Amino acid sequence: MSRHTDTPRMTAPGIRARKGGEPIVCLTAYTAPVAEILDPHCDLLLVGDSVGMVVHGLPNTVGVTIEMMIMHGQAVMRGSKRAMVVVDMPFGSYEGEPQVAFANAARILKETGAQAVKVEAGPQIAATIAYMVDRGIPVMGHVGLRPQAVNVDGKFRAKGRTVEERERVLAEAKAADEAGAFAIVVEGVDETLAPEITAAISAPTIGIGASAQCDGQILVTDDMLGLFDWTPKFVRRYADLKGVIGKAASDYAADVRGRRFPAAAETYALRVNAARQPRVAQGDKRG
Ligand code: KIV
Repeated sequence: MSRHTDTPRMTAPGIRARKGGEPIVCLTAYTAPVAEILDPHCDLLLVGDSVGMVVHGLPNTVGVTIEMMIMHGQAVMRGSKRAMVVVDMPFGSYEGEPQVAFANAARILKETGAQAVKVEAGPQIAATIAYMVDRGIPVMGHVGLRPQAVNVDGKFRAKGRTVEERERVLAEAKAADEAGAFAIVVEGVDETLAPEITAAISAPTIGIGASAQCDGQILVTDDMLGLFDWTPKFVRRYADLKGVIGKAASDYAADVRGRRFPAAAETYALRVNAARQPRVAQGDKRG
């Protein structure tokens, strides 16, 4: 196998070098076909643990496992070739001993081929980020609204709207930056806080519900495609896939009930020497 590809993927240093430059375009992806569609338009695809909610129907991200992240990470790697692929470390896989976090992150990178992991960061995770980065694992931080802390916070809630909270979120970002995170997601914070964080740290900031003044932006793809009735205030819907899919399913159901589907062109015709032919035409891989 060749060690070189025509279009090398974006890398952690490449993303980091975009600080203050052209905005970094990021979206979440969980499956190969969607990753393939998003890849030409994105610098970074995040296999977010939001997969638990948007694909598996979990109430939050706490129940997501390493195995789920690996399976979706593999799919996104198969579907993409240009964007950097970052896989979320799920709740419980990195908050303890740095050695355990490293082993889990190494497993994710080895089994998926992704380039980096993301952790919800703060001063308490800084030593773990440094431990992993020093040993060859690029790490993205995630500060502000930290979905994995939902049971402590009680609900998903914007952060940084009081002086105390502003200082806490700024400290989270600085700690992840000083520990060597190559980029930091800033989620759900007061609009004036994100530019302050962006100016205060050397890693690029990737905003979600933050500010257009971040170094890049990310959205949960299923949210921006309009697959759900409810989305957070900060989501801009670029499509109404829920409506499109619902209409397609309703049209299909009507055609089946009215015996208009399948039509003749959608069925296999009997061949003249049918008795000697196999039941399925040669070359039809799906049978
Ligand atoms: O899990 C996820 O999709 C995320 C994004 C919201 C940044 O962490």
